[in-house]
Amino acid sequence: MIKPLLKPMKIKLHRFFNYRLNILDPISKSIKITQMKKIIFALSAIIMITCAENTKNNTSDYKDKNAPIEDRIEHLISLMTLDEKIMQMNQWTYGKNANPNNIGEKMREVSPEIGSLLYRSTNPEYRNQIQKKAMTESRLGIPIIFGFDAIHGYRTIFPIPLAQASSWNTELVRESSAITAKESWLSGLDWTFSPMVDVARDARWGRVSEGYGEDTYANSAFAVAAVQGYQGSNLNEKYTIAACLKHFIGYSLSEGGRDYHYSDVSNQTLWETFMPPFEAGVNAGAATLMSGFNDISGIPASANHYTLTEVLKEKWKHDGFVVSDWGSVRNLVEQSVAKDLKEATQKAFMAGIEMDMVDNAYVDYLPELVAEGKVPMESIDEAVRRILRVKMKLGLFENPYVDVVSEEERYLLPEYLEVAEELASESFVLLKNENETLPITSKYKNLAIIGPMVKDSVHIMGFWEGMGRPEDVKTIYEGLEKEFKNKATLNYALGCDYDGDDTSGFDAALQAANNSDAIVLFLGEKRHWSGENGSRSTIALPKIQEDLVAALRKTNKPIILMLSSGRPLELIRLEKMADAIVEIWQPGTMAGPAVAGLLSGRHNPSGKLPMTFPQTTGQIPIYYNMRQAARPTLGHYQDIPRDPLYWFGHGLSYTTYDYSAIKLSSKKITKDQTLIAEVEVTNSGNLDGKESVLWFLKDPFASISRPIKELKHFEKKSIKAGEKVVYRFEIKPERDLSFVDSQGNRHLESGDFYVIINDQKVHFELVE
Ligand code: BGC
Repeated sequence: MIKPLLKPMKIKLHRFFNYRLNILDPISKSIKITQMKKIIFALSAIIMITCAENTKNNTSDYKDKNAPIEDRIEHLISLMTLDEKIMQMNQWTYGKNANPNNIGEKMREVSPEIGSLLYRSTNPEYRNQIQKKAMTESRLGIPIIFGFDAIHGYRTIFPIPLAQASSWNTELVRESSAITAKESWLSGLDWTFSPMVDVARDARWGRVSEGYGEDTYANSAFAVAAVQGYQGSNLNEKYTIAACLKHFIGYSLSEGGRDYHYSDVSNQTLWETFMPPFEAGVNAGAATLMSGFNDISGIPASANHYTLTEVLKEKWKHDGFVVSDWGSVRNLVEQSVAKDLKEATQKAFMAGIEMDMVDNAYVDYLPELVAEGKVPMESIDEAVRRILRVKMKLGLFENPYVDVVSEEERYLLPEYLEVAEELASESFVLLKNENETLPITSKYKNLAIIGPMVKDSVHIMGFWEGMGRPEDVKTIYEGLEKEFKNKATLNYALGCDYDGDDTSGFDAALQAANNSDAIVLFLGEKRHWSGENGSRSTIALPKIQEDLVAALRKTNKPIILMLSSGRPLELIRLEKMADAIVEIWQPGTMAGPAVAGLLSGRHNPSGKLPMTFPQTTGQIPIYYNMRQAARPTLGHYQDIPRDPLYWFGHGLSYTTYDYSAIKLSSKKITKDQTLIAEVEVTNSGNLDGKESVLWFLKDPFASISRPIKELKHFEKKSIKAGEKVVYRFEIKPERDLSFVDSQGNRHLESGDFYVIINDQKVHFELVE
């Protein structure tokens, strides 16, 4: 019999301060279990006999590490009972939640037969002990796969993914993901629920912070970088962990940016905008995917056979498994496509979800669904096959345990912190810099350092801070003290809190400003204002923060506005009041040195926006690759300027870059030729820098309307002051000039095209 995993009722605390009650009662429905007992017993007996038969014919032993993986899997499946198979599909939690989200199971309550644990402890020894139970006390010794949300770091916290995308540095993102993998693995993990590759265009949706912004190609490129970083070149090796592409699919289109809500996604948008990053991640070898909470045009993502099976497994040939999102099997009842949890189980499982995250629905209902003939045994076997395949690829059967080393050897190593600072500083976006207010040179001897972010060590880590600790964070203030020691006096004042209406700190802030040559003002969002369940009706900062800027403006001192947020912000009022503006996002552990380095000029800013900053919240959705309007000059909101405040791709530097004319290897190409586009970029200023060139293509006429332009390639390079560097884009027609229809079929149509960089637009033709 399947061992009950839960007490009759569990209360799961919501991780986002509002308490969410989640009553998990069905596992110990002993009445139901008793009723089903006879059927299941009979079924198990039949299966055992069949297993024995199969075993006789199989030559490979699943324990033989030299045998081919597929043979080992088949052998193992042939030995497993239905209960054992179903237990492989079950994930429960172990350990205290870092966010007060759930109450974990105690070690002794963990069944040795369980397939997976969401492991919320940092202790590798506990993991090894639990794993030992699985290896020695379960009948067949099948290892558990331990997963966790290491989203932008485990203990060393890197900038949030949206910030990572601003760096346009895929190599750094790969490196930071590899560090995350190593810290995670040494803490007992085999698997992270990352990267999130939901293309996001509504900044009210808090989870924009978790992905790589509004562009499909950018999400695809960073998906690949993150998967490669986590998984390394061979999952079998130490320090690598399985990646999980999420949330499959269309979740970011939740209506009005309200998290968990309905998403109306046309098939054209699904294929054109949302599918490519997942496909890129699958092609990069991502071992797993997670389904979404959203209802995709009437068929929830967690019950969607088309996306989960027809596309993912049949078309893309993904051979790993899909885990449901937290409780998303149960949510099918709320979403009104299943009358009860049993039907939800059937729908989710038959749609293609192999592992059930924390609902215990599979354990409860799959046995009877099989007995009733509603779920075929072949489907159970196929699901288990996929889970075992990932475990085999991870090498868990041979090496079920992780190394135990001291925390000092495990976390926050100097080389990790170096990458964290580099990635943070490359992610900062200099939005405005009137009269070269920045960097802060000797012209400013006294600096007013004001704002709730200055001494913060919590919000600066962003949402999903892994196992990051505030005491590890180098605060902005610490960074500034070190950077400006003997160079400038810092006059600190809090000014105000993040929200509320207490203006009692304004006077001290004004005094600090009056005693200084310039004001560096650190405003922004608390960590849970973005991230999961972090939707906001307005993306403006709270009034108190705007009032503080207005009050300080009256001093006539230059204002350098430093913004820390998990989303684009509405800056329509603030922009006019600031001389310089930098978006620093949520930079993580090395916030202080990175920010201080940017202010002093030690780091030359090189970030560019991966998401458009609208004028106002009402301008959402606005993104660079919209379709052309019928009357392009008309139809805009009458009360605000037509364009957003800062477009996707915007970002300044302390130096200047001059672009040559774009050179094309030919004006005409055929479908099987490659067109070489090149541009030479000169650093014409006095500071060394790094410049990202974003290459766009435009297809002005096609049988399915095309966006105004589309990012197809990007590259970041260092350019020393006075030097020139050539950037190159090899345009391959099938890959770069084709487009998909609503069924995902690619079309390549000859005709006119344009290569676009900044304000340059160069024509070429694709001929038959
Ligand atoms: C989130 C996922 C996350 C999971 C496990 C869910 O609520 O939507 O992104 O991976 O919890 O913590």
